[in-house]
Amino acid sequence: MMNKIIDLRSDTVTHPTLKMREAMMNAEVGDDCYGEDPTVQRLETLAAEKVGKEASMYVPTGTMGNTTAILAHTHAGEHAIMDIECHIYYYENGAMSSVGGIMPIVVDSSDGCPNADVVEPYLQRSPTRYPKTSLICLENTHNRRGGRAIGLDRMGAICELARRYGVSVHLDGARIFNAALALGVEVKEVAAHVDSVMFCLSKGLCAPVGSMLAGDADFIQKARLARRQLGGGMRQSGVLAAAGIVSLTEMTDRLIEDHDNAKLLAKALLQFDQLDLRREDFHTNMVFLNTEPLGISAEDFAERAAQHNIRVSVYGPTTVRLVTNHDASREDVLYAAEVLVDLIRSILNRAV
Ligand SMILES: Cc1ncc(COP(=O)(O)O)c(C=O)c1O
Repeated sequence: MMNKIIDLRSDTVTHPTLKMREAMMNAEVGDDCYGEDPTVQRLETLAAEKVGKEASMYVPTGTMGNTTAILAHTHAGEHAIMDIECHIYYYENGAMSSVGGIMPIVVDSSDGCPNADVVEPYLQRSPTRYPKTSLICLENTHNRRGGRAIGLDRMGAICELARRYGVSVHLDGARIFNAALALGVEVKEVAAHVDSVMFCLSKGLCAPVGSMLAGDADFIQKARLARRQLGGGMRQSGVLAAAGIVSLTEMTDRLIEDHDNAKLLAKALLQFDQLDLRREDFHTNMVFLNTEPLGISAEDFAERAAQHNIRVSVYGPTTVRLVTNHDASREDVLYAAEVLVDLIRSILNRAV
């Protein structure tokens, strides 16, 4: 058994690289609440450029980026439409409602991008009888839909509809660089038609902390007030932003290695017809596995994998998620695939 623990629970488990640690040590800093941190300013300029927006703001977490975006786009008592499996609805502890007074309208579509014909009736409702729908939230790549990269045609259709009705669109692009790579387009193109985009530096891009929210200058000004309200105004945060600059200048292209490794993992698991996996479902750095055909729970599967030093995350009673990342090399992933194949084989053999 390999001594090293191969952690495939998430791409958030990645550690900052040596270059990041050096950049952090040497970072020029100031009080960012006075607008005096040159490193944060460099990061914000670079991030805005990358996604083709006028301005951007550094936030401690993706969740705060999404929440500040919602606060800046909406007023309490309004509706926001989103996919039922999206992170904002599923994982952010109701921040949009508890902090922003926003009521979610959740819709279900198999790829995670709301369908225009389902959304349009909400936008057509009488403003005197119904709450105003002021925001549509998208997610790309879509975590709970298998790390799926949603096509630009799908995003374009919903953005065009939103524009027609004067409704804003926010993109939770926590993994937007993975989406761009999988779609074979520039990251700017993924963000082109949305009003705001949040993306994380702290996932596959390996920064220890931080996410960016980008949009036009007026929107970012409003979002800065919301960030302050949430206690997200930071002081000498250039020390952290320095790592984010390395993420954006050195770490985006290497995400393709994570995608290739996820495909290797998926390929090994595809041999089990019982698992009902489909090659076309593996878009980026994630592999989801249903443990039901193995007759065990996800928890049980994760425990058995952990006994072999492979860590996977439990995503539902019978759903396991594996995420390839910078800290698990190709060799590690091939080893993990071998272990998991043996494990699945032994479970299936015992079942018959
Ligand atoms: C799709 C998506 N959006 C937002 C977030 C939130 O990021 P954070 O954990 O930095 O708050 C995550 C985190 O896993 C995510 O996967």
